[in-house]
Amino acid sequence: MATINNNLLTYQKGSEKKQSIVFIHGFPFDHKMWDLQIDRFKENYNCFTYDIRGLGKSPAGDGQFTIENFVDDLFGLIEEFKLIHPVLCGLSMGGYIALRAIERDEEKFKALILCDTKSEADNNAGKINRANAIKEINNSGAEKFAENFVQKCFAERFINNNKKEYEEVVSRAKASVPAGLKGCLLAMAARTDTTSYLPQIKVPVLVLCGEEDKLTTPAVMKAMADKINGSEFHVVPEAGHVTPVENPEFFNAKLEKFLSTL
Ligand code: MLT
Repeated sequence: MATINNNLLTYQKGSEKKQSIVFIHGFPFDHKMWDLQIDRFKENYNCFTYDIRGLGKSPAGDGQFTIENFVDDLFGLIEEFKLIHPVLCGLSMGGYIALRAIERDEEKFKALILCDTKSEADNNAGKINRANAIKEINNSGAEKFAENFVQKCFAERFINNNKKEYEEVVSRAKASVPAGLKGCLLAMAARTDTTSYLPQIKVPVLVLCGEEDKLTTPAVMKAMADKINGSEFHVVPEAGHVTPVENPEFFNAKLEKFLSTL
């Protein structure tokens, strides 16, 4: 565990001599979303992850975030740890950050893995949902908001069959500070649309989507994958929006195969 110049908490496991992979978590989660991937891949890769500004144990500061700041943080981490052409793997909000990072400077990266995410910006209904989420945090508190939001992310099957793991995720999300949650919601509402860059992507791309993902559905993700030349698309069975946690066996098998081709 370390902090980088901007005080973000970062975690590294594996050999610095090996190919690096940077894992970026979704909202309102933290780096521990990737525990089962890091455990699995640390032998053969240099695995990095971190808590996005405002979430987990990274500071929220004034909560005035943009996706551009989040990409700056990612580039800061890559520079600080002298990572050469890392593979970038982002889930949902982590995917928004990854897509914008690729659009800003694709040459930095070896490959891209997009999990349960999309390239479109929020439409008006989406922006109003973000405003309502901020209202919910103001009126009912961060804990209630996080509890409700996390429940929408997971498939019911996982919640019922993995109570302990699920409760752990919920309790970490509930510990988020209001300024961090609201800052992320505003950053996501204000993000740019990266769809026009998809056909220009040259690095290899793997796209994974939970079959029961209601936030970024398989149809939406398949349409995105179709716009990326040569991309590989898989639906993750028995999983909602949090595929690396809900079906790590399938997720890791697809990741392993993709990484072996690079
Ligand atoms: C996430 O998992 O990061 C969020 O669901 C993304 C979003 O709300 O757009």
